[in-house]
Amino acid sequence: MKVLLTGAAGQLGQALIDAAPAGMELLASSRNGGEGLLALDLADATSCRQAVAEHRPDWVLNAGAYTAVDKAEAEPELAGAVNGAAPRAFAEAIREHGGRLLQLSTDFVFNGQQGSPYRVDQSRDPLGVYGASKASGEEAVEALLGASGQGLVLRTSWVIGPVGKNFALTMLRLHRDKELLGVVADQVGCPSSTLNLASACWQAIQRHSQGAAPPPVLHWCDGGAASWYDVSVAVGELGMELGLLECAATVNPITTADYPTPAKRPNYSLLDCQGSRQVLQLQAQPWRAALKDVLQAIPTTP
Ligand SMILES: NC(=O)c1ccc[n+]([C@@H]2O[C@H](COP(=O)([O-])OP(=O)(O)OC[C@H]3O[C@@H](n4cnc5c(N)ncnc54)[C@H](OP(=O)(O)O)[C@@H]3O)[C@@H](O)[C@H]2O)c1
Repeated sequence: MKVLLTGAAGQLGQALIDAAPAGMELLASSRNGGEGLLALDLADATSCRQAVAEHRPDWVLNAGAYTAVDKAEAEPELAGAVNGAAPRAFAEAIREHGGRLLQLSTDFVFNGQQGSPYRVDQSRDPLGVYGASKASGEEAVEALLGASGQGLVLRTSWVIGPVGKNFALTMLRLHRDKELLGVVADQVGCPSSTLNLASACWQAIQRHSQGAAPPPVLHWCDGGAASWYDVSVAVGELGMELGLLECAATVNPITTADYPTPAKRPNYSLLDCQGSRQVLQLQAQPWRAALKDVLQAIPTTP
């Protein structure tokens, strides 16, 4: 099976490369290419269509994205091109040349106001530019590939991994550098380890390819629910336990209003993953255990 992976330099992209099933022909791409990577700029829809036409992959695994949630408020065109127009271009090319698309998406397509976990079939209502751009990518995949069953959207939330830029690694650094932290406690969701998320992506592809086609939208996060405050406290505790920290900072819970950001974020964006876990035949790892695995997998610098 030939898979064209985008976002190979991102945190999920790297976990996907590490966890790629044996026998897979993986064409990994990043914006500028580099060692072993194809160059593919997701902001260039023509290049996205050409990549499918040229390589004819069985799957496009679109893990690349414009993920700077706050910066997106000032760059709506670029966010829209990368997160909306690129999946549309892949879907158009797949319709023409064949293949399938696994599109990664986000809890930020929801407004976070319902106070209970979001099901896969609920209406999108994003609060900011990033969420709107990801929602438009989902809509394109649904519109162009929904009827044929060639498109799959996998939503996840609060992605954390041992490499790249993410909340867990930022908190680990802040625990080292500061004595006191204020972390938002009134936004609830669930972390998703790249290690588990990568397995879920490959499982979705394999099950689909074996004919056990999953529904068009899947949700995948680690098990449980947490606030950013909970995750920060856990990073401190686990960092100490694993010998990554000599001491942890004191973490104070603060409100969203205490920490204003350019982009509005959903207050409660837990994804209901129950059905998707059954479809994928994968069990959830509780988020704290998954976080521990992530922290243990941080590469040690020589
Ligand atoms: N991070 C989260 O908390 C989170 C939450 C929910 C869903 N998701 C979704 O999960 C997926 C994986 O995210 P992630 O956490 O792995 O993000 P990430 O670490 O930011 O990786 C995204 C990758 O996309 C690349 N990219 C951005 N613009 C590009 C362009 N024009 N052309 C080619 N590549 C480009 C980035 O490259 P540069 O570094 O060079 O910009 C980066 O390597 C995305 O679809 C994201 O929307 C993420």
